[in-house]
Amino acid sequence: MIYGNLKYMQLIEYNQILTEIKKYNFIVIDAAITKHYPTLSEQLVDKSVYIVENAEQNKDLNCFEAITSYFITEGITRQDGILAVGGGATSDIAGFVAASILRGVMWSVVPTTLLSMIDASIGGKVGLNTIQGKNLIGAFHRPKDILICDSFLNTLPDIEFDAGKGELLKYVFLSEDIQNELVENGFSKKLISLCADFKLEITAEDYKELGNRKILNLGHTFGHAFEKALDYPHGIAVYHGLKMIISIFRPELVDLFNRVEVKLDFTKIPFEKCDFTEFSKYLKHDKKRLLGDEIELIIPSNKFKPDIITLNMDELLTKIKSHDSYKNYFR
Ligand SMILES: NC(=O)c1ccc[n+]([C@@H]2O[C@H](COP(=O)([O-])OP(=O)(O)OC[C@H]3O[C@@H](n4cnc5c(N)ncnc54)[C@H](O)[C@@H]3O)[C@@H](O)[C@H]2O)c1
Repeated sequence: MIYGNLKYMQLIEYNQILTEIKKYNFIVIDAAITKHYPTLSEQLVDKSVYIVENAEQNKDLNCFEAITSYFITEGITRQDGILAVGGGATSDIAGFVAASILRGVMWSVVPTTLLSMIDASIGGKVGLNTIQGKNLIGAFHRPKDILICDSFLNTLPDIEFDAGKGELLKYVFLSEDIQNELVENGFSKKLISLCADFKLEITAEDYKELGNRKILNLGHTFGHAFEKALDYPHGIAVYHGLKMIISIFRPELVDLFNRVEVKLDFTKIPFEKCDFTEFSKYLKHDKKRLLGDEIELIIPSNKFKPDIITLNMDELLTKIKSHDSYKNYFR
C-alpha cells in the first residue's frame, strides 16, 4: 500500500530484509532475533546497534535513556533513520526513541512476531511502560516502512504465536475479507497481509483514535481485565475477552466464533477460572474506557460495523453475573 511517496507496508522475503537493513545505521533489535538469525546479525557489523533483552520488561524510561544516549554518542543526525527489528515491545521502544531523539527522526520497522505484524507495528502508536501501568508514556509517530516477512514466524514460540492469533480474531468480526479468508483457508500469509492492511486503513483515517480507530479495541475491555487478573499474555486474554462479549451480547455470533476458533486451532487454549471481584476491580480501572460510572464497550455485529455502547458499570457487572456463561469464566 502506498501513502504519498512512502512505501508503507510490504510483505517481503527474508533476503530483501537483509538488503533493507543496509540502509540503516541505527538499529534497535530484539535479542531473540540476533540469536536465531545469524545471517541477519552479520549485516549489523559496523552499525550502531542496540540489542534489547526481554523487551517487555525493558520497555521503560531506563531503556529509552540507554538507547538515546548511545545513539547520540554514536553521532545520530536528523538525516538518519532508526530501524526496529523485533516484536511489539521492541518497536514501541524504538519508535518512541525515533519520535523523541533530536525532536524526531524517521524510523522503519521489521515486525518479527505475529502480533506485531498484524497490529503493533502499524498505526504509529509508540511508547513505554511506567511503574504505574502499561503504555502510559508515548507518542504518535508513524514508521516510514513496515517490512513484513513471515519467515520470522518459524522461530516464534507457540505461546507467542497463539497470542498473535488471539489478537487476530478481532479482525474476523471487523472485516468480511478477513473473515472469508480465515473461514475458507485457515491461517495464511494472505491473512497477515489482510489484517495489516485493514489496520493501516483504519489508522490512516483516524490516526489519533478520536473515532473509528476505537473498533480495534474489540475484545480488549474484558481482555485487559483477564490479562491483569490471570496474568495472561495480552493476545490470549483478548481472545477470552472477545469470546465472552460475544456470548453475552451477540449470541447469534457464537457459531461463527466456534468455527473460527477451530480454523485457528484454538480450541485447546486453557482457561483458568477468574475471581469475579478481581475481574471487576480491573474492569473499573480501565482508564481508557471509563466515563465516570459508565464504561464503553465495543460489541461486534454480523455486518462488520461494531456498535460502541456505554453501560453503567454496576449494570454491566450484574449482566455478566446473571448470564449463563458466568460459570465458564468465574469461580
Ligand atoms: N503500538 C501499538 O499500536 C501496539 C499494539 C499492540 C501491542 N503493542 C505492544 O506490543 C507489545 C507486545 O508485542 P509482542 O506480542 O510482539 O511481544 P514482544 O515484543 O514482547 O515479543 C514476544 C517475545 O517473542 C520474542 N520474539 C520476537 N520475535 C521473535 C522471533 N521471530 N522468533 C523468536 N522469538 C521472537 C521476543 O524476544 C519476546 O520474548 C506490548 O508491549 C504491547 O503494548 C503495541
